[in-house]
Amino acid sequence: MSSALALLGGPPVRTEPYPEHTTIVDDAEERAVLPVLRQGHLSGFSARPGSRFLGGEQVRALETEFAQRFGVKHAVTFNSATSALHGAVAACGVGPGDEVVTSPYTMCATASSVLMQNAIPIFADIEDRTFGLDPAAVEARISERTRAVIAVNLFGHPARLDELREITDRQGVPLIEDNAQAPGASYQGRLAGTIGRIGVLSLNYHKAVQTGEGGVALTDDDEAALRLQLIRNHGEVVVGEIGMADLENQLGWNYRLSEIHAAIGRAQLPKLDRMNEIRVRLARRLSERLAVYDFLVPPREDPGCTHGYYLYPMRYLAEELGISRDLFLRALQAEGVSVAGGYVKPIYLIPMYQRRLVYGRSGCPFTCGHYDGTPDYEPGACPVTERLYREEMLTTDICKYPNDESEVDEFVAAVAKVADGAGALAKV
Ligand SMILES: Cc1ncc(COP(=O)(O)O)c(C=O)c1O
Repeated sequence: MSSALALLGGPPVRTEPYPEHTTIVDDAEERAVLPVLRQGHLSGFSARPGSRFLGGEQVRALETEFAQRFGVKHAVTFNSATSALHGAVAACGVGPGDEVVTSPYTMCATASSVLMQNAIPIFADIEDRTFGLDPAAVEARISERTRAVIAVNLFGHPARLDELREITDRQGVPLIEDNAQAPGASYQGRLAGTIGRIGVLSLNYHKAVQTGEGGVALTDDDEAALRLQLIRNHGEVVVGEIGMADLENQLGWNYRLSEIHAAIGRAQLPKLDRMNEIRVRLARRLSERLAVYDFLVPPREDPGCTHGYYLYPMRYLAEELGISRDLFLRALQAEGVSVAGGYVKPIYLIPMYQRRLVYGRSGCPFTCGHYDGTPDYEPGACPVTERLYREEMLTTDICKYPNDESEVDEFVAAVAKVADGAGALAKV
């Protein structure tokens, strides 16, 4: 017999806070960083023609190691996945008047990277199996203005990348993968992030491997790699020198990674498989134990795919338990376990898109003279996304280092307790 629900005044299942750090940072990082500190070259970049244009020793070594690990020709580091995404969008030739089709159910930077190029994000709905873009919805959103598609490998699971690639190839536009959440996940024998023309990884502190802040763009395409390098480091000052006649999108930023960050990245990268193994082991245990509950749909691992479990997503089916998602969520949170509802608001519903105010007061880039489209940001534009956000989605971040089986079992105990008490809760 379980005790009274914590929401109704009973004792919670968990009282301890969870640990903040989710990757192993140990003496490997210290050993990597100390020589850089002692040598004093904390960044190796210079925005001038010459060898330092491409960064210092650590940055270049990290890029070689990422390229090898992911089996691609080029890895170009950035100081975040946000800047790498912007670099990718610009390197693909996107500019004013263009549209880029992407998911509304992702961290906002996926779509912001399009606005950063004065182009217009067009949101296509997702499917509720992988939570990636629904290829049919993408097809319906493609127009003569579409210049690229950004797929998001959400929560660590690849989207339907072959079908998306087939659509973009047929349309003659590049597929960019926002693979920030799925480093090391695989898709039909290949690694997520290597299927599009450019794939972007995040190295921020809550990813499977981290440099505190950082990002990497992966590509097999020589021209894309060069453009990414130019956009990362004030490309406008060197394009003349290297004889590039095409100035399109050669305005660069300071999106460079420091030598310290790169050295940390070199110590972190070898830990990627181990960090992912922990996530998969805990997530599969959680899925096995939650399988007895018909009101929760655990995440799937599609055939031929592996999952990175950046988060563990669940669909909650209110009709099966008889209480709303939000009441179930509050009851579970009151038990002290880590769980959140909705993931993120569909991007087009946030005020910047609703009011179409991005740069200054003029409505740019929506009112730009080069743009003649009408993006659909109305409520209801992506019904699957909105249903997940409002009614069904629950996520937990417990399936990762340093947590272990005990946190998983405790989560299951909390779910069991709330399921037992749902009748009582429904009456209150
Ligand atoms: C899907 C997705 N894209 C982009 C980003 C941005 O990453 P960063 O914080 O490295 O800029 C994140 C960060 O969480 C993300 O989850």
